[in-house]
Amino acid sequence: MTREVRLGLIGFGNVGQGLAQILKESREEYIQKFGLDLKITAISDARIGNLYDPNGLDAGDLLEHLSENGSFKQHPVAKPGWDALTLIHESNADVIVEMSYTDLTTGQPATDHVIEALTQKKHVVTSNKGPVALHFSRLNALAEANGVQLGVEGTVMSGTPTLRLAREILAAGKIRKVMGIFNGTTNYILTQMESGMSYADALAEAQQLGYAEPDPTGDVEGFDAAGKVVILARLVMNEVISMEDVDRTGISKLTLEDVNTAKAAGERWKLIGSLEIVDGNLVASVKPLRLPITHPLAGVSGAANAAHFVTDYVGEVTLIGPGAGRLPTGYAVIEDILAIYR
Ligand code: HSE
Repeated sequence: MTREVRLGLIGFGNVGQGLAQILKESREEYIQKFGLDLKITAISDARIGNLYDPNGLDAGDLLEHLSENGSFKQHPVAKPGWDALTLIHESNADVIVEMSYTDLTTGQPATDHVIEALTQKKHVVTSNKGPVALHFSRLNALAEANGVQLGVEGTVMSGTPTLRLAREILAAGKIRKVMGIFNGTTNYILTQMESGMSYADALAEAQQLGYAEPDPTGDVEGFDAAGKVVILARLVMNEVISMEDVDRTGISKLTLEDVNTAKAAGERWKLIGSLEIVDGNLVASVKPLRLPITHPLAGVSGAANAAHFVTDYVGEVTLIGPGAGRLPTGYAVIEDILAIYR
């Protein structure tokens, strides 16, 4: 028997379009494999417009309409007066997928969307780091109180299954330390600088390739990586810390000379997010570190991300994969939706 799962999407940028692309290609397969029919019934995007069809919208048609028209404003089921909150209240969505822009200072407007959806007893899946870094405990408690689930896999390393690996597979032992490359933009810049490109040119390239946040200060000064460190602290080490608790330094002061000096010494600069229990206290940081070339994180190049776990029973485990991007992040969202019903 096939169960229909109706999705209400808030935000239809890169991640939303990645999710639609995956549904276009794999929806039939999910019906066969999992007995779950994932259907987009509503979309609300502040820039592109709002849509609602209770019977479901074809993912391929949505992408085609958007590429031909640049928005949903002329779509036959456009809902001009709607916004994210109307979608939560008036659509038939079983799962609200929050993919609006990340704000790591206020967490808004995404946090309000998540709160409202959970209060309305709808499952929420989000790739948005703001609400998760700033308010996970409160939001998770709200989900539990309302008998629904909150999926956040895509907030750290996109579709690379970092949170699930740590929370489910490594959960029977203690994770003593986490070290990782949690920002693709800065890793890309450092990799390009090692090939001789200037910091400014490498940043411009990372922006063009779509890795960087709208304001790349969040990337280069380490705020984005710090947000992920806060999320890992809560979800993997079970410690509540805030953005201010992360000792943070970005890469904007690293020069080509620094990069070359390290290279000559058989080392590499990497922006490393780290969490470690020291004398019973969790120490959290994001800072550039010079790693020996033999370190598992030193070989992670370009926009890739990585997480290196030091565990008691399994020893050291390193996971390398994409940390951003349309399909990998769309995939993380799909994986969370399937996990709710599987
Ligand atoms: N700007 C981020 C990065 C996107 O470069 O990794 C993913 O959070």
